[in-house]
Amino acid sequence: MAELLDGKITAKNLRLEIKEEVNNWLASGGKKPHLAAILVGDDGASQTYVENKVKACEEVGFDSTLRRLPAAITEEELLREVDGINDNPDIDGLIVQLPLPDHISVERVTQHIHPEKDVDGFHPVNVGRMVKNLPSYISATPFGILKLLEKYDIDTQGKHCVVIGRSEIVGSPMSILMARKGNPGNATVTLTHSRTQNLKSHTLQADIIIAALGIPEFLTGDMVKEGAVIIDVGITRVPDATKKRGFSLKGDVKFDEVEPKASYITPVPGGVGPMTIASLLYNTLLSAQKKVFA
Ligand code: GUN
Repeated sequence: MAELLDGKITAKNLRLEIKEEVNNWLASGGKKPHLAAILVGDDGASQTYVENKVKACEEVGFDSTLRRLPAAITEEELLREVDGINDNPDIDGLIVQLPLPDHISVERVTQHIHPEKDVDGFHPVNVGRMVKNLPSYISATPFGILKLLEKYDIDTQGKHCVVIGRSEIVGSPMSILMARKGNPGNATVTLTHSRTQNLKSHTLQADIIIAALGIPEFLTGDMVKEGAVIIDVGITRVPDATKKRGFSLKGDVKFDEVEPKASYITPVPGGVGPMTIASLLYNTLLSAQKKVFA
């Protein structure tokens, strides 16, 4: 039986810590942190995510601005919106919710956000600073995973960590963060992906597995050794007629098979997901306090 890594409770405690830090910061004359979010189009899931981010800002005592823009906006118009926020001294952090419509280049937009306001941590300057172990904004999902490992006191030193999936926003940064000097960190990391041969031979040797490939129930019980720590990043919507909303959320881990062998495991939902908003708040506070780009 594994112990659950409870993202809901951990994220709630993190938000309380942030709120307390904001109160101290304001009491000492600091400026109220302010996060701006841009939402292009009317994708249902994106709307929910952004609205949750804005709600979380209010909860911890931040100001927030939500700019809703039509799906037909041109890339140039969107870049001008980003300019406006880059130049607004009251705004500490800016996120442009992804995905964007196909006619807009995510890379151009991401690189247009001023690195000092890039609280998503997607700008090459922040990615580069992370790789060099300089102060940087760490993006939401990797940050959430590190915090979960830290809060549950999971020893990563010298452990073999197998990351499945090399995406730019999860697998790749996770492999760097787990290997770098620090705690959590100092792990021996294997980064696996769609071209990896005999994946199971790697996962069977892993003390820690981070599954971030986006294939529901990919990691099965026979792929995991006894006592492994399992982090499940997947949240695929799978059609489910028994649910009122018509779908259920499935992780990348076959929970019923893997859980009995694991020492710790994240549930889906309620594991990594709830942790991600806390990172945005944390980064926005760091920005208001000028702690990353001092
Ligand atoms: N869409 C899904 N995850 C994210 C995220 O972390 N940041 C942004 N901006 N968009 C997303």
